[in-house]
This record gives sequence, C-alpha cells and structure tokens, in this order.
Amino acid sequence: MKVGVIGVGYWGKKHVDEYFQLGHDVAVSDLSDENLQFCKLNYNAKPVKDYHDILNDNEIKTISICTPNSTHHKIALESLNAGKNILLEKPLATNLKDADEIVKLANEKNLVLIVGHIFRFNNAIKKIKELIHNKNLGRIYTVNISWTNLEPIFPDRDILFDLGVHPIDILDNIFERMPKDIICTGEGFRQKNVEFAIINYHLVDSFGGKDVFVNIELSWLNPIRNRKMIIVGSEKTALVDCVLQKIQLINNHSGVLEDVIITPNNTIRDELNFFLDVSQNKRHITSPIPNGEVARRIVGIIEESHLFLTQNNNKN
Ligand SMILES: NC(=O)c1ccc[n+]([C@@H]2O[C@H](COP(=O)([O-])OP(=O)(O)OC[C@H]3O[C@@H](n4cnc5c(N)ncnc54)[C@H](O)[C@@H]3O)[C@@H](O)[C@H]2O)c1
Repeated sequence: MKVGVIGVGYWGKKHVDEYFQLGHDVAVSDLSDENLQFCKLNYNAKPVKDYHDILNDNEIKTISICTPNSTHHKIALESLNAGKNILLEKPLATNLKDADEIVKLANEKNLVLIVGHIFRFNNAIKKIKELIHNKNLGRIYTVNISWTNLEPIFPDRDILFDLGVHPIDILDNIFERMPKDIICTGEGFRQKNVEFAIINYHLVDSFGGKDVFVNIELSWLNPIRNRKMIIVGSEKTALVDCVLQKIQLINNHSGVLEDVIITPNNTIRDELNFFLDVSQNKRHITSPIPNGEVARRIVGIIEESHLFLTQNNNKN
C-alpha cells in the first residue's frame, strides 16, 4: 500500500526504512533536499517538498508525522482534516489544549490516531508489567528511571516534552495509576531551555494500597546513554534495560540474581505494523496502545511538571 511520511530527519528515516522493509510504497516530505534525496536513493521513495502534496494524494490513507514537536499540532490537524489516519510522533502536542484539539478531531472524523509511545510495544516492558501485576516483586516501593545521553543544544526542544515522554509513559503503562504530588526541578546549563531535570511523584493506588514513589532523571548533558529502570519491591528488585530489553531480578532476602528470559522485538516495526493494521481494519484501539487518550494523559503530566519547574525557577 502507499503510505506517507512527513519529516524524514533522524527518526522519520526509521519510519521510511520500516515501511520499505514491509513492502509499502512511501511518499516522503521534508524541507531538506538532502533528506529527500536520501529516501529516494535508499527506499525508492517519492519525494515532495510540500507536505500538502501528500495530504492531497487520495491514494494515501495513512501517514507518519515525524516533524519537530512544535509542528505536531498544525500538521496533525491538517492531516486529519484531509481524512488521513495518523501515527504522530511523540509528544502528541506541547500543551494540553493543543492535545485535546487533535484527539477531538480524530474522534469526530473517526480516524486512527496513534502516538509514537514506542515503549508500549517493547517486550521487556510487557514482561516487567506482567511480573509486577503477578506480584513477583512483592509490593512495589520505588522506581528510579535514568534517561540520559549527550546531545547538542536544541534551541527548539524542551527536555520534558521530548525525552520525558518515554519514562512517564512507561510508568503510566506499567502501573496504570495516576501521579500525585508532582515535583520537578531542572536547569539549562548551556542554554535557556531545560536540558537536565528530575521529576518526582507518587503513583496512587486507587484501591487503597500504598503508593509507589517515582524518581525520573532526564539529561542531555550526560554522555552515558541510559535507558534504565530500577524497580524496588518488597521481595525482589528489578533492573530493566529498556532499549537492550534485558531484565535482571535480585532477591532482596538472599541476594540471588536471576536473568529473565525475553525475546527482544523490533519495536518500531511492531508499532508501524499495528498502526497499518488498525488503519486498514478500523479495529477499536484500547489501552495499553498509545491512542489519543493515553497520549493526552502524558501531555497533562508533563505540563504539570513543567508548570512546577517554571514556577520554582522563577522564585529563585
Ligand atoms: N519515538 C521515539 O523514540 C522518537 C525518537 C526520536 C525522535 N522522535 C520524534 O520524532 C520527531 C522528529 O525528531 P527527529 O529527531 O527526527 O528530528 P529531526 O530534526 O532530525 O527531523 C525533523 C525533520 O522534519 C523536517 N521538517 C520540519 N518542518 C517540516 C515541514 N513543514 N514539512 C516537512 N518536513 C519538515 C525537518 O526538515 C527535519 O528533517 C520529533 O517529534 C521527536 O520527538 C521520536
């Protein structure tokens, strides 16, 4: 089938690569001739400079939007108004008002909206969720997530709305609980935009059990690339490498270490396959799949974290 990819920079090229490997014809749009030529040469993709040419192509019913975060709202609304099913890269939007408009329009038009919360398709995350829900770790006390790597200065990106989406979404998916008492601190050392942040909150047990305490570290300054979680339970502690898809369990009482067997999957391929399937067959999308409702909730948590951070920074 014919699919469109709007924005073929670092991440959009991965969408094109997967659609191509899956045997689909791809039309691509980007402002950069170099990116367009790359996709034409490597994937036989049809390049167009203006993304409206993709929106006006009646043969294309499904589109990935992989443009900068600040453009998501505008391009998503235009794509839905053009009758396209969309896989919009994360974040859904950079504020709750814009997020709501996109979700509302997708519902009104009865079109598919999936947001690129790719870790919902990751076998290690599925496995740790299963272990936690089966009480393998006992009662969960705390989760520490470290999401770090060195990046150049991004004048147009905010670390909370960019990198922060993944760890917050992973916790939302695993625990299915809402945060309370969000605290967020952060700094922009090389620039005005925040490039290091710590977010703390409690995940509330609505059934009256004890809350889980969460600590998230986000950094674009740390050259050590971490995508790791430490989940401490009353019986066992889990070390999760979210990208390598590895889980080790430590028995808190005996200290015995055990590797959990996981078959790592190609998460982006599974995500895109799912998107194409629901777009073609109009299957109803429910949680844990990252539909508009899920992605909107994550934008809300980030917006609250952001508000706390800016109010606190303004005080100092
Ligand atoms: N799901 C994930 O794990 C993941 C990983 C990386 C990036 N992303 C998301 O993907 C998106 C793109 O990130 P990136 O790192 O590839 O950025 P990037 O800057 O490398 O690529 C963005 C591309 O969009 C193009 N673009 C901008 N405006 C356009 C327009 N009006 N029409 C057509 N093309 C336009 C730019 O020319 C650029 O090539 C972001 O939303 C980011 O959050 C998601």
